[in-house]
Amino acid sequence: MVDERDHDTSSSSLPSLSKQLADTTLGGSADVPVVDLSVSDEGFLVREVVKASEEWGVFQVVNHGIPAELMQQLQLAGKQFFDLPEIEKEAVAKEEDFEGYKRKYLGGINNWDEHLFHRLSPPSIINYKYWPKNPPQYREVTEEYTKHMKRLTEKILGWLSEGLGLPRVALTQSIGGDTAEYVLRINFYPPTQHSELTIGAAAHSDMGAIALLVPHEVPGLQAFKDEQWFDLNYVDSAVVVIIGDQLMRMTNGRFKNVFHRAKTDREKLRISWPVFVAPRDDMSVGPLPELTGDDNPPKFETLIYKDYIDQKIKGWALEDLPVY
Ligand code: OGA
Ligand code: NI
Repeated sequence: MVDERDHDTSSSSLPSLSKQLADTTLGGSADVPVVDLSVSDEGFLVREVVKASEEWGVFQVVNHGIPAELMQQLQLAGKQFFDLPEIEKEAVAKEEDFEGYKRKYLGGINNWDEHLFHRLSPPSIINYKYWPKNPPQYREVTEEYTKHMKRLTEKILGWLSEGLGLPRVALTQSIGGDTAEYVLRINFYPPTQHSELTIGAAAHSDMGAIALLVPHEVPGLQAFKDEQWFDLNYVDSAVVVIIGDQLMRMTNGRFKNVFHRAKTDREKLRISWPVFVAPRDDMSVGPLPELTGDDNPPKFETLIYKDYIDQKIKGWALEDLPVY
């Protein structure tokens, strides 16, 4: 697992750098889909999430079963951590791996990168040394949140599997079932005067299978579709679902690995809480045999996930794009 946003920017299938940096053109007639999970007609839900994954690669879910109070506690704990003096945050500083706290001023358009990154699940891969001890409730809240994240992720993967005509457990199993890795990143974007120039998170697609992100009431996340950037409207208590590279590859391109970016705000602090779900490094991932055939040959190579990551990073380097 690497910190992909240490290597942010594009790969050859993605829009040119100038497009990535272009001002938002609001789509007007279209909006990132919002799916209400409380409807009782599961067939309808399956169709909605599949359609959103095919057309956008991103959607928001509401009435998802994660208690609003727990989401508020998660947000409060994150905010309390970032409010600590720098010296206290350094207690969980990043060492050689991707986990831990990092604050870096990058200069230019990508000016600020401050985040906390750590593994959540399975329990055997957790390094509690990167979980803040302050605020004191951090661990309890985050562990409770992890249980809900796992349940919701598997539910969504279940509907997506059914929509593909596969058994409900198919996609979850294809990323390793209980060995799939869940990693939390808390992105902290302070206000910047030059917010039109300051990309909080440069345009990228997520490398893993899927990410579930709790947004902040200060909007900033944007998705790329039909050559345009779309703002994600803030919906109270919603969770944003982002389809990553591996789900795109497993479905032989049927689902879209949405290209997205985050802007900073001129006056207000913005924080986001994505949880990335990915196969273990040593798992083989490629188009599912059930989804390919003579009339739909595999469009992607089956690769060990670690090799996929290495290739993606090498691709960035070849394009001579900045690697921080
Ligand atoms: C990410 C990401 C978006 C945001 O961390 O991969 O896409 O809104 N973040 O912070
Ligand atoms: Ni992302």
